Amino acid sequence: MRISVVGGGYVGLVTGTCFAEFGHQVTIIEIDPEKIKAINEGKPPIYEDGLEDLLKKNAGHRLRAEDGYESVAGADIVFICVGTPPKPDGSANLSYIESASCSIGEKLKDIPGYCVVVVKSTVPPGTTEHVVRPVVLKMAKKTEREIGFAMNPEFLREGRAVADFMNPDRLVIGSSDPRSGKQVEEVYTSVRAPLIHTGISAAEMIKYTSNAFLATKISFSNEIGNICKNLGIDVYDVMKGVGLDPRIGPLFLNAGAGFGGSCFPKDVSALVSLAEHAGEKPVLLQSVLAINEQQPSRMITILEKRAGSLAGKRIAVLGLAFKDNTDDIRDSRAVPVIQMLLAKGARVIAYDPMAAPNMKKIFPAIEYCPTAADALRGADGCLVMTEWPEFTRLDKEFDLMAHTVIIEGRHILSRKDREGICW
Ligand SMILES: NC(=O)c1ccc[n+]([C@@H]2O[C@H](COP(=O)([O-])OP(=O)(O)OC[C@H]3O[C@@H](n4cnc5c(N)ncnc54)[C@H](O)[C@@H]3O)[C@@H](O)[C@H]2O)c1
Repeated sequence: MRISVVGGGYVGLVTGTCFAEFGHQVTIIEIDPEKIKAINEGKPPIYEDGLEDLLKKNAGHRLRAEDGYESVAGADIVFICVGTPPKPDGSANLSYIESASCSIGEKLKDIPGYCVVVVKSTVPPGTTEHVVRPVVLKMAKKTEREIGFAMNPEFLREGRAVADFMNPDRLVIGSSDPRSGKQVEEVYTSVRAPLIHTGISAAEMIKYTSNAFLATKISFSNEIGNICKNLGIDVYDVMKGVGLDPRIGPLFLNAGAGFGGSCFPKDVSALVSLAEHAGEKPVLLQSVLAINEQQPSRMITILEKRAGSLAGKRIAVLGLAFKDNTDDIRDSRAVPVIQMLLAKGARVIAYDPMAAPNMKKIFPAIEYCPTAADALRGADGCLVMTEWPEFTRLDKEFDLMAHTVIIEGRHILSRKDREGICW
């Protein structure tokens, strides 16, 4: 199939590259010239395990990136993968979606065949039908007999995005007519996964609900963790016992620094905003966000209790990415932690295997080290913010600290005697 993918960020680049690997002819449409150049040279502008090999293999053959929308005129299917960042009130900013829809519609004006426009970005229910569809049809001066619409939410996890895309746990295709739904299904013929067809708004809501549920599990675990801490109980023992119940499951029960990234905080906020506009008071979801906001400052409070005043102290921050295996720092819990440390006069020494260049754009003046051991040398305290596998192996490196005060935000350390480790 001939596929255009609008937006060459985390989702669009992985989607486009994997579709090319499936054998489709793919054009990624992107507005950032540096990303276009990198993609066409086979060099991913982001770090994702396995992406570089697939991009190298397909760039210039079945995959190319462009800044114009010309490819849309010859496409069987167009995927919209642009960002939907939060507005100051928490609702989703749909301006990139509108602008992409407008450009797609303009190019679909003169084509004789049938094309399906698919929203893959995470959007509030109603967006595909009430924003994308009218804009595309108006610009194209066409009817729904000539252009189909669908919503196909993406569930990939950053850091494991290529593997998740190739082997998803489910495929959800929301469409209002069987023809467009079938056309989307055909793109995925090489994928073995449970497939469900739904209405368009239900597909949009499935994505928000999935992220809200996972975020809720994390905040729930953090609340239980905070109670356990006050009662002197090990929350990780508790959650080990709780997670064995198949109705609950063991994942996302780790109390710690809270959730970050480009999805959970923004999607839960958007769902709260959506609920409020619908006249609901989403008490549970508001609490999920409130608990998450307080976790970083709890870590600082524990650090202060153990290390005393932080003014002038050398504090190592291990992990800057919002999770392991990625260089993405969007809404990383390390950001508020570093802000608080600086506000208290601490000297921040940071280390991350991948994400330091991105964090330097936010905090150019803090010190970045090439290894965890360098960051720990002479430190008065340490905060572990990301579950990087290499941190699980740290042991003797902690002996380099001036004072072994280690606050674990991710519960991954395996230091033998756990000396100095606290959550
Ligand atoms: N990152 C994830 O793990 C993930 C997972 C599932 C769903 N999503 C959703 O997918 C969407 C995209 O997320 P992302 O992380 O890939 O965002 P991103 O910011 O990494 O990528 C968006 C890209 O779109 C480009 N763009 C913006 N307007 C454009 C236009 N008019 N034409 C062409 N290109 C344009 C931007 O330059 C950018 O490269 C969001 O709605 C997000 O919530 C993200």
